[in-house]
Amino acid sequence: MKLCMIGTGYVGLVSGVCFSDLGNNVICVDKDEKKINNLKKGIIPIYEPGLEELVLKNYKNKRLNFTTNLDNAVKKSDLIFICVGTPSKKNSNQADLSQIYSVVREISKSINKFKIIITKSTVPVTTGDYIEKIILKKIPRNKFSIVSNPEFLREGEAIRDFIYPDRIVIGSNDKKSNSIIKNLYAPIISKGAKYMSTNRRSAEMIKYVSNSFLATKITFINEIANLCEKTDINVEDISIGIGLDKRIGGRFLRAGPAYGGSCFPKDTKAILLTAKKFKTNLSVIKSVIKSNNERTKLLLKKVNQILNNKIKNKKICFLGVTFKANTDDMRDSSSLIMIPYLAKHGAIINYYDPTGYKQEFKKFKNVLCSNSIVDAVKASDLVIIHTDWNDFKSINFKKLSNSKKTKIYDLRNIFSKNKIKSLGFKYFSIGRSD
Ligand SMILES: NC(=O)c1ccc[n+]([C@@H]2O[C@H](COP(=O)([O-])OP(=O)(O)OC[C@H]3O[C@@H](n4cnc5c(N)ncnc54)[C@H](O)[C@@H]3O)[C@@H](O)[C@H]2O)c1
Repeated sequence: MKLCMIGTGYVGLVSGVCFSDLGNNVICVDKDEKKINNLKKGIIPIYEPGLEELVLKNYKNKRLNFTTNLDNAVKKSDLIFICVGTPSKKNSNQADLSQIYSVVREISKSINKFKIIITKSTVPVTTGDYIEKIILKKIPRNKFSIVSNPEFLREGEAIRDFIYPDRIVIGSNDKKSNSIIKNLYAPIISKGAKYMSTNRRSAEMIKYVSNSFLATKITFINEIANLCEKTDINVEDISIGIGLDKRIGGRFLRAGPAYGGSCFPKDTKAILLTAKKFKTNLSVIKSVIKSNNERTKLLLKKVNQILNNKIKNKKICFLGVTFKANTDDMRDSSSLIMIPYLAKHGAIINYYDPTGYKQEFKKFKNVLCSNSIVDAVKASDLVIIHTDWNDFKSINFKKLSNSKKTKIYDLRNIFSKNKIKSLGFKYFSIGRSD
């Protein structure tokens, strides 16, 4: 099939490459010229395991192409996937749909024959209805169809998630488009993915409810971890104990820092706005957002305690600053609150992240990026393990730090408490007594 992906970010690039690998002709469009020129040279704009090989292979096979020319890409394609960003508006919970509507207006100028326009971006319920209205101003109803196909891939596992998803959700009010898209996904369905066909509004809602539920699970276990710390119980035993119940399930029950990333924070906030619009109170999701905001403050309070309320001039090392391991995505990472807070209180921060330097900390003179774990940890008063990259799991603190005064705060529980303590270090973790 002939497809174009508009927006070549985490979702557009990964899904575009995977669709091309399944044998389709795919044009990835982006307005960012530098990104497109780099992709043509084989330079991948994001860190995502396995992505580079797949891009190079399919670009060489000429099944995958990159362009900034949206008009041409739309004219040549039968299926148009919208994959642009839908972040929160500045100082508001509302989803900013300006990228979506701008792309839709452009698409409407380029429809030369029947097109299926598919939103892969996460968009609030009724967005498909508005998109349809915008296009109807220029194009007759029989020349296009608007479908919702929310994406559920996780950064760091994106290719595997795309090829082996739990489910594919297609929201369409039109049977013909539904069967064309089902055909596109046939190789993935044949590998065991469940295919769910529903109406457009339901598909839009499924994505928000899914993310809100996962955010609730994380927040729930994070609060239980607080209780475990005070009752001399290991929260991991609780996660296993409840997760073995099939009604609950073990995934997304790992206690840690506040959830972050490009999806959960903005999507939990946006569904509240949808609820408000339809005069409904989603009190559970409201509490989840509040609890998650408080979590970062709680962890900072603990850092204060660990350092005996003396942060000034203390050397603090952060291992990992992205919102989770195996991605370079900094969006809504809890480090964006923790590091500035500690820096403003006079700490000297050294961070190491396998995905490199982060410009988000550029304005802080006392926040430095180290090129290696060894350099970052050296002479630290406190090492904060913020994400659980495999590189961190094999750290030999005994070799790295000659000072037993170095304290370790493991926000991902990657180490055994007894093992680290037996080496003579003061070790603190999540949901386990100190
Ligand atoms: N990142 C994830 O893990 C993930 C997972 C599932 C769903 N989603 C959803 O998918 C959508 C995209 O997320 P993302 O993380 O890939 O975003 P992103 O910011 O990485 O990528 C968006 C891309 O769209 C491009 N763009 C913006 N306006 C454009 C225009 N007018 N023409 C062409 N390109 C344009 C930007 O330059 C950027 O490259 C969001 O709605 C998000 O909620 C994201």
